[in-house]
Amino acid sequence: MRIIGIGCRRMEALMISLLTFLLVCIGHLPSVAAQGPYAVRIACGSTVDTYASNGFLWSRDWGYTGGSSANVSVNNPKAPQLNTVRYFRLSDGGENCYNLTVPVGHYLIRLFFTFGQEDNANREPQFDVSIEGTLVYSLQRGWSTEPDNSYQDSLAFVNDGAATICFHSSGHGNPAVASIEVLQIFNQAYQRGWNVSQDFIMRSLKRVSAGAARSGFGSDFQADPWGGDRYWESDISLFLPGSAVAPISTNLTIKNAAVYPNIYPEAIFQTATAANPGQSLSYTLPVESNLQYSVWIYLAELATFTAPTDRVFDIVVNGQKVFPAVDIMEMAKGSYSALILNATLLVEGKTLTISFNPIKGNIAVNAFEVYALVPTEAATSNTNLWALQVLKQSLSIPARLGWNGDPCVPQLHPWFGIDCRRDTTSGFWIIDGLDLDSQGLQGVLGDEIGSLTGLQNLNISHNLLQGPIPQSIGLLASLVTLDLSYNRMNESIPASLGNLTKLQKVFLNDNQLSGEVPHSLGAGALGGANLNLANNDGLCGVGIRSCDELKQGSRAGIIVGVLLGSLMAFLFGYVYYKRRQNIARAQRLPRDAPYAKARTTFVRDVQLARTVLTDHFKPVYREPTSSQTSQLL
Ligand SMILES: *[C@@H]1O[C@H](CO)[C@@H](O)[C@H](O)[C@H]1NC(C)=O
Ligand SMILES: *[C@@H]1O[C@H](CO)[C@@H](O)[C@H](O)[C@H]1NC(C)=O
Ligand SMILES: *[C@@H]1O[C@H](CO)[C@@H](O)[C@H](O)[C@H]1NC(C)=O
Ligand SMILES: *[C@@H]1O[C@H](CO)[C@@H](O)[C@H](O)[C@H]1NC(C)=O
Ligand SMILES: *[C@@H]1O[C@H](CO)[C@@H](O)[C@H](O)[C@H]1NC(C)=O
Ligand SMILES: *[C@@H]1O[C@H](CO)[C@@H](O)[C@H](O)[C@H]1NC(C)=O
Ligand SMILES: *[C@@H]1O[C@H](CO)[C@@H](O)[C@H](O)[C@H]1NC(C)=O
Ligand SMILES: *[C@@H]1O[C@H](CO)[C@@H](O)[C@H](O)[C@H]1NC(C)=O
Repeated sequence: MRIIGIGCRRMEALMISLLTFLLVCIGHLPSVAAQGPYAVRIACGSTVDTYASNGFLWSRDWGYTGGSSANVSVNNPKAPQLNTVRYFRLSDGGENCYNLTVPVGHYLIRLFFTFGQEDNANREPQFDVSIEGTLVYSLQRGWSTEPDNSYQDSLAFVNDGAATICFHSSGHGNPAVASIEVLQIFNQAYQRGWNVSQDFIMRSLKRVSAGAARSGFGSDFQADPWGGDRYWESDISLFLPGSAVAPISTNLTIKNAAVYPNIYPEAIFQTATAANPGQSLSYTLPVESNLQYSVWIYLAELATFTAPTDRVFDIVVNGQKVFPAVDIMEMAKGSYSALILNATLLVEGKTLTISFNPIKGNIAVNAFEVYALVPTEAATSNTNLWALQVLKQSLSIPARLGWNGDPCVPQLHPWFGIDCRRDTTSGFWIIDGLDLDSQGLQGVLGDEIGSLTGLQNLNISHNLLQGPIPQSIGLLASLVTLDLSYNRMNESIPASLGNLTKLQKVFLNDNQLSGEVPHSLGAGALGGANLNLANNDGLCGVGIRSCDELKQGSRAGIIVGVLLGSLMAFLFGYVYYKRRQNIARAQRLPRDAPYAKARTTFVRDVQLARTVLTDHFKPVYREPTSSQTSQLL
């Protein structure tokens, strides 16, 4: 590689055509370069593949998680071939994605947003868009009135084999998208320092080809496809009549234009906006405050007569002299040679102004770009993601819950029913809460639940779950509350539950559990936890009736919940003192005294709600006073 690098640099000096130089260099680059960049262009909502007039394939819609398609009339000259959208109703869930299989690499991802009658009754929808789990766009009220806003591109790395682009509802209309382009660029493209940084997604704000006769895509200017087919906007319309500026241009070849890694179209260097002598030239963009911005400035001297030091100027961004005393001739080593400058700076205010202030001669600016650096959000840990994906299948999580994309990020849009916590050691997000109660879920809770090892709160009550409580639940060492009540879960309670020392609430009532309650759930192991096992016809042993009696067939209404600890103390503060007495008495019982006896003899520890006491329990049950009864029931 080293030798190739030197070879290229030597050739560079000799080359007249830099494009040729580029091709030679690419020929020596690793295989991915030799194959040409990976590119996929999707016409969202379209059922057919179409070829645009420039030969690009716009493929039919694929890779989406749901939604519907609609016809729209697109009057955007940037996208004449598009007349359909994919849109996502609320019933499709809050999170919907495109999951596009692409090779690992660096991509320009371009989206075109529009809406119409069928999808949004011609009312502008508002929604958020994330790329690879990072919230990149927020389409807010009025976005569609500014044509620039509907066409957006960002530079992002894809490391997991699929470019994931998600649309997050904010409850204002149906998110809609007309096209998605995922165009590979070099990994080192737009590198801002020594190393390639994947800490940011670069969201382009402005890409201007100054003095250009027309705006256009890289492909319109015969640019190399490794440039990502960037769209360059002419600034001519920005200058009011009578302004002290004029476009200049040349047809001569520009050296070092299409150079690795950013690969620019030569055309952007062949035109410039020139100011009258002594005049400054400024461009101001509205920006989001407190973000870092990466500013790229492209210059080439288009006048042969200019000797070095004939044209010298400062480049100032928001008052900060980022490039002082720029002399293109000197820095680019002659006329008709490209000079590429970049700087990254934090903007605290709401505008970003790039000013070119003359020192000597007049100003001429060829092109510039401004990118917002959006910090990439950490992903959810792989094992947690996998477990939730399996759970999504096994519990038939309905589409309206929108379980698409990454469960925890963007942080603003986690999956329905999911709570996440950043794992400080790994840096990944892990699931610490799952609240899926009363969602009509069916199916069997699989062993994958045991992979969510950070889980503290699991509530899947009031659903239609069948089958056993998985043994793997004993792996959830952080679990504090477990509520599987009001389901149809059967078979016996796994003994591994007794391993969970942090448990405070265990509600397994109103299921079809059977067999003996494991001794691991006895007084010692789950000491202090609220344990509710009521309304499980087949359950016996510790805490309820003895298993011998169950065998004798007294099934009728043996439904007892045992409620321990703090809940009762909270509800019946006045009993607190007595309860302490009770505990003291319980502790005085012989060590091997069954849990049942220690507890059920105390009326306040027996959950009365929905409890039908059998003859078996009556002897040890003391009637509460009428006031207690009404409070309890
Ligand atoms: C869009 O229009 C085409 C042709 O007019 C029609 O065949 C198709 O069914 C329409 N699609 C939708 C989603 O309405
Ligand atoms: C996305 O695509 C990748 C690669 O094809 C695949 O491994 C992954 O399971 C997909 N993810 C989803 C949520 O479909
Ligand atoms: C951008 O500027 C930094 C120094 O500020 C430099 O290290 C880097 O190579 C430049 N990137 C490109 C692609 O020219
Ligand atoms: C660049 O990466 C190398 C290897 O990962 C690291 O040792 C070095 O410190 C990095 N340099 C900078 C300036 O971050
Ligand atoms: C460049 O070439 C075009 C057509 O070949 C011509 O119309 C135009 O005037 C030329 N521009 C300059 C600056 O020479
Ligand atoms: C589980 O969710 C139900 C329904 O929202 C709620 O009544 C119950 O208190 C929750 N369980 C726990 C342990 O918080
Ligand atoms: C538990 O329920 C499942 C699903 O309804 C059923 O297939 C299985 O036989 C039941 N097991 C027992 C022991 O009843
Ligand atoms: C968890 O409980 C099971 C069954 O009681 C037991 O076999 C296993 O050793 C326990 N694991 C730990 C880590 O305590």
